[in-house]
Amino acid sequence: MKSNMNFLAVVFGLFLMSCNSTVVHDQSVSSPDGKVKMEFDVNGSGRPFYRVFYNDKTVIDTSYVGFEFKNGKAFKDNFKIVATTLTDHDETWQMPWGEQLEVQNRYNALKISLEEEVAPNRKWDIIFKTYDDGIGFRYAFPEQEGIKELVITDENTQFNLTGNHKVWWIPGDWDIYEHLYNETLFTDIDALGLSGHENLNATYIPENAVNTPVTMKTDDGLYLSFHEADLTDYSGMTLKVHKEDLLMTSELVGSDILKAKAKITLPFETPWRTIQIAEKAGDLIESKLILNLNEPNAIGDVSYFTPMKYVGIWWEMHIGKSTWDLEGSQDMNTFTTGKRGSSRHGATTENAKKYIDFASENGIKGLLVEGWNTGWDKWINTEDREGVFDFMTPYADYDFDAVMAYAKEKGVEVIMHHETSAAPRTYEKQMDVAYDFMKDNGINSVKTGYVGKIIPKGEYHHGQWMVNHYHKVLEEAAKKEIAINAHEPIKATGKRRTYPNAISREGLRGQEFNAWATDGGNPPSHLPTVAFTRMLAGPIDFTPGVFNIKFDDYKKENQVNTTLAQQLALYVVIYSPIQMACDLPEHYMQDGKVHPAFQFITDVGVDWSQTKVLNGEVGDYVTIARKERNTDNWFLGSITDENARTLDVAFDFLDDGKNYTATIYKDAEDAHWNTNPTAITIDTITVTKDSKLTLQLAEGGGTAISIVPQE
Ligand code: NOJ
Ligand code: CA
Repeated sequence: MKSNMNFLAVVFGLFLMSCNSTVVHDQSVSSPDGKVKMEFDVNGSGRPFYRVFYNDKTVIDTSYVGFEFKNGKAFKDNFKIVATTLTDHDETWQMPWGEQLEVQNRYNALKISLEEEVAPNRKWDIIFKTYDDGIGFRYAFPEQEGIKELVITDENTQFNLTGNHKVWWIPGDWDIYEHLYNETLFTDIDALGLSGHENLNATYIPENAVNTPVTMKTDDGLYLSFHEADLTDYSGMTLKVHKEDLLMTSELVGSDILKAKAKITLPFETPWRTIQIAEKAGDLIESKLILNLNEPNAIGDVSYFTPMKYVGIWWEMHIGKSTWDLEGSQDMNTFTTGKRGSSRHGATTENAKKYIDFASENGIKGLLVEGWNTGWDKWINTEDREGVFDFMTPYADYDFDAVMAYAKEKGVEVIMHHETSAAPRTYEKQMDVAYDFMKDNGINSVKTGYVGKIIPKGEYHHGQWMVNHYHKVLEEAAKKEIAINAHEPIKATGKRRTYPNAISREGLRGQEFNAWATDGGNPPSHLPTVAFTRMLAGPIDFTPGVFNIKFDDYKKENQVNTTLAQQLALYVVIYSPIQMACDLPEHYMQDGKVHPAFQFITDVGVDWSQTKVLNGEVGDYVTIARKERNTDNWFLGSITDENARTLDVAFDFLDDGKNYTATIYKDAEDAHWNTNPTAITIDTITVTKDSKLTLQLAEGGGTAISIVPQE
């Protein structure tokens, strides 16, 4: 009896203890495969922090999180954990268009509910999701008494690195993403040193910060990439670099008008802060973490948009053959130098018909025409850019209806162009009518542009105000069944899952820089870096396909710094559901016929059921194979930096027991991006699942292969 009493006393004691203070909370969560793990806690002064592990090794050490507000005490210390919830999730969803058809979204989640231990006892949640390929976490501000709105002056999310990693970064510019990537050790990051690039029409780098995605390699050979997902009603995040501490902290893009970073109305959830973790560089590209952290499709069927290749009246303005405007001759030389030339209007009826003919004869579906509408004489180099364009009035030498009729007759789809001159308020007023005008004319997609300093002054391209503008454009366009390809956009954060009418965007140093940049254009290492950085965010309208690599007839001082074979490989490597064949029709001709290498552009897919990264190192080289949707065709693209390379690839991704015809477009033996860029060899062989091939890539070169099943 006595022993029983003792037993009861112990049980009762335990019961009391658990009622008292030792409420056991789950404070860590691991990925489904157990390799990625994160832990959360508050320190002795109630300051919240997290850590991230990969295979039990710390990859992000103790990193504190918090906020500063204009209208309230900071979220810093004095928090306690009041509840935690663990959940798991496994679903497979389909992309309406994309790098693959099916996407598995499998993660474990931990929601932490925090409350201040001192008045006003504010509440705050943090949600962590762990995937096999990384983590995401976001802050949630629940509805609560006494706080309706918070004006955030700083989000203080730390990312505490465990070493002086090698980093591929662009500066944390509040106005533009069109910087070259830099490869340095973390402690050598100098973003401020990149201020004021003369070819950037709007640039503002206030801190030694980097933009995202920023990719790193640790001494242990692990790859990390930091970014954000679902950037909605909030400011873009740059990451401030604290060299001595090997630490980054979130630095949101601000607004001189709001005199803060973001204004939020409760309840509110911030974008996800994401860290991709991979053992192979190529796994970063295959990861769908950023998309999975976005909400499912909110706009339904987007079959009004057809993934396609397109030509356009575009490159000719950039290399200075023609001009956007009729009167004043504003070409890209004007854009960079302010000087005006003589009138050589590019968007004429006749020229548009020439491009339409070329497209229809060479299996290209789309046509973009820039400079078709009046206003281009005052689109840049002036403060007064509101109302410059109306997106309806064609120039006198451009017969809009005739071009539309001719395109229709030839089975070519016209893509609209709306350059807003960074005057979004005007654009918001014009959108409705401009989109109706498009639809009335059977036009389903538009390339938008935001060149210049944002009007109103004091807002930046990547601040909350503009994030909301780009969002509004997507919503309004979706209502009218219009797809958007934004240039000078907000960064891609996977919102194409929710708004699949967000088809592509620029948001990087595109091909156009090769036409006029005063710094020698994009170096051969540019695209092998972009594939592992910018491309992790989403589709890129890079506009490949230059065949006249040196274009000396127009500009002796500029050129494309790749081989022709690499230009072909880019259609596979750099993903976008719209891909331009950007050169002039006459540059695709050789000896009175279409250049034989153009056949690859005619054949290559733009919409994929599978993507496999066969090899790659950040900034050096990458090889990607993609299977076209609705066919059994595969396409392979391989590109290298300034170093020639020999790469072994296995065709084990092909179907069993099938023979395929592989047409190989490769650098000729003596090809070189500078001395002999157009030397290309085309071979045809039969391959099977067991085939292996050694690719020989020239300096700045590439290989493109189309792989078509034999009947
Ligand atoms: C900048 C875009 O990136 C470019 O493609 C376009 O031609 C010009 N703006 C004019 O809109
Ligand atoms: Ca641009």
